[in-house]
Amino acid sequence: MTEPFLVARNIAKRFGALTALANVDLEIRSGEVLALLGDNGAGKSTFIKILAGAHPPSDGELVIEGSPVAFSSPKDAASSGIATIFQELALSENLSIAENVFLGRELKRSILGIPFLKRKEMRQRVDGLLKELDAHISDPEAPVGSLSGGQRQAVAICRALNLNARLVIMDEPTAALAVAETRKVLALTRRLAARGCAVVLISHNISEVFEVADRIVVFRRGRKVAERLAAETNHEEVVSLITGAHPDVRALEKPN
Ligand SMILES: Nc1ncnc2c1ncn2[C@@H]1O[C@H](COP(=O)(O)OP(=O)(O)OP(=O)(O)O)[C@@H](O)[C@H]1O
Ligand SMILES: [Mg+2]
Repeated sequence: MTEPFLVARNIAKRFGALTALANVDLEIRSGEVLALLGDNGAGKSTFIKILAGAHPPSDGELVIEGSPVAFSSPKDAASSGIATIFQELALSENLSIAENVFLGRELKRSILGIPFLKRKEMRQRVDGLLKELDAHISDPEAPVGSLSGGQRQAVAICRALNLNARLVIMDEPTAALAVAETRKVLALTRRLAARGCAVVLISHNISEVFEVADRIVVFRRGRKVAERLAAETNHEEVVSLITGAHPDVRALEKPN
C-alpha cells in the first residue's frame, strides 16, 4: 500500500474546559473517499478545521507525505494542497463563475507596471475544469447568482481543483440539495477521487455515504470509535456505531 497523503496522530482539541477531540489517529489516502460520521457535537467539524488550518490542535501532529506540518492559517493548509469546502460555500453571488474560481489568485500580466487580468486564459482554464468535472455549465462568465445549488458545489470544487488541491474536504455538501443535484455532487466526489485526490466527506446521510465512500470513520464524543471499509460494513452497523449501541463502542466507553 502507498504512503497516506496525510496522517493525523494523537490529535486533541480543547476549548477551555471542554475536550472537543481526544487521541484521534487517522490516515487519509489519495484516490480515496473517506466519510466522517458522527452525531451532532461529535467533533467532526473541529477535526476538519484542524486539517484546514483554521484551528491549531491542542495536542498531536499532522504529517503530510512523511513530513510534519504545523498550520497557522487556512492559507498554510491551502499551500500544502488542502482545500476545504464549507457548507456555506462562501461564493460571491455577483461575480462570474470564472471570477469565483480564481478569487484572490487571479492571473495577471503587467503592462508598463499596470496590472491587467488575463481574462481569456482564466476563462479557458475554468472551461476545462468544468468539462473535466462534467458539470454541465456552459458559460463560465455567468454570474454565480444564476446557478443552482448543485452547480454552485461544482464551482466550489473547481476552485479547489484550481488550487491543485491534493485533499478536498467537504462538510455536508448535499445537506441543502435536491435529489438530482445531490446525485451530481456525489458523482463529482467520485470523480475527484478518480483523478487522484483524497476526499473527506462529512455527512449525516448514511445511504449517501455508502454510495461514495471507500472508508468510513465514526467519531463519538470527540473520539474516533470505529473505522471500517465501506464494503465490509452496513447501514445498521454504522448506525449502532454512531449511537454507541455497538458492542465495540460500549467496550470502549465502559467506565473502568
Ligand atoms: N470554537 C469553539 N469554542 C468552544 N467550543 C467549541 C468550538 N467549536 C466546537 N466546540 C465544541 O466542540 C464540540 C464538537 O463540535 P463540532 O462542531 O466539531 O461537532 P460536529 O461533529 O461537527 O457536529 P455537527 O454534526 O452538529 O456539525 C461541541 O461540543 C462544540 O460545542
Ligand atoms: Mg459540524
